[in-house]
Amino acid sequence: MHFNLLSKGDGILMIKTIEFKDEKLYLLDQRKIPIETEFFVCKTFQDVDFAIKDMAVRGAPAIGVAAAYGVVLAAGQFMKCDKQEFINRMHEACEVLYNSRPTAVNLMWAVKRMRKVLDDNLSLETRQIYERLKEEADEIFKEDFALNKKIAEFGNTIVPQKASILTHCNTGALATTGYGTALGVVREAFYSGKDIIVYADETRPRLQGARLTAWELVQEGIPSKLIVDSAAATLIRDGKIDLVLVGADRIALNGDTANKIGTFMLSVVAKAYGVPFYIAAPTSTIDFDIESGKEIKIEERSAEEVTHISGVRIAPEGIDVYNPAFDVTPGENITGIITEKGILTKPYRENILKLKPKSIQKS
Ligand code: MRU
Repeated sequence: MHFNLLSKGDGILMIKTIEFKDEKLYLLDQRKIPIETEFFVCKTFQDVDFAIKDMAVRGAPAIGVAAAYGVVLAAGQFMKCDKQEFINRMHEACEVLYNSRPTAVNLMWAVKRMRKVLDDNLSLETRQIYERLKEEADEIFKEDFALNKKIAEFGNTIVPQKASILTHCNTGALATTGYGTALGVVREAFYSGKDIIVYADETRPRLQGARLTAWELVQEGIPSKLIVDSAAATLIRDGKIDLVLVGADRIALNGDTANKIGTFMLSVVAKAYGVPFYIAAPTSTIDFDIESGKEIKIEERSAEEVTHISGVRIAPEGIDVYNPAFDVTPGENITGIITEKGILTKPYRENILKLKPKSIQKS
């Protein structure tokens, strides 16, 4: 299958990362970038579950979209079953996808939305249910790109001319259906003619900054420098950073935000030196059911992510490892949360609740 990695959209370059075609889901394999650009092809919902767990697809919005198409693939797999078996198998598939990673709430949000469409259409033939699910997944896909563009436009209003921006992890086209959240703001600032420079943290242990953010920045010629995570505090102290801009995996009502491990540390240093610290995320990343970050489950990943780099052991056999994939930045350290509906500021609880959709389905 041939893909244009870079295609023109809205007058700017965008990277095609996820495509549903011929009843298969094609995911630009994020485990291989920047060495190879290959697609991981999912034919079943179990393939999608694997792709999310193994991080062939990663980033909160991207895993939500992938899971939505996972539900579509499940409907294709079970379409020939009798109705009751179809329903049972579909509910099991939703459960598996819902639990494929624990922290990013976009995943649960997307699966709940798909499950609602399933449950609302049980009187239809299984082929028609498949079609309805496909329409909903396409809608989630399209919405994500449109939301990112809005986030980028709002975000650009707080980016000064000649800004030096520090970012962490990957929040770009690869982490979404295109454009990105925090990196979308960077793109918008760059394409609107601002003379910016981006400092990208390498983001140990999975190196999303070095492998993915750096790749996106180089593809588009956005001025940037890659740094090791431990260089960030020195840059902030030395007045070399005007703005810290990161994404989010889950936001609580009080503004506490889970994001890639290392984000909390950046927020502490930014606060100490009076540097604005912004989160960029769609409102689907807000978990309206939780009051604070204490309720966010933090994923712990394998020891091998820390003891090995690209399959080569760098730590002695027998060493014990602690490898949390995310941390929680307290709302009080966050200057603003850039969403598709505008920029939220303190008091977060009050301002976030104004965005709560009327019909939030409980799991
Ligand atoms: O473990 P990952 O790579 O899925 O973690 C991703 C992040 O923490 C991102 O910063 C977050 O999902 C925002 S992506 C727009």
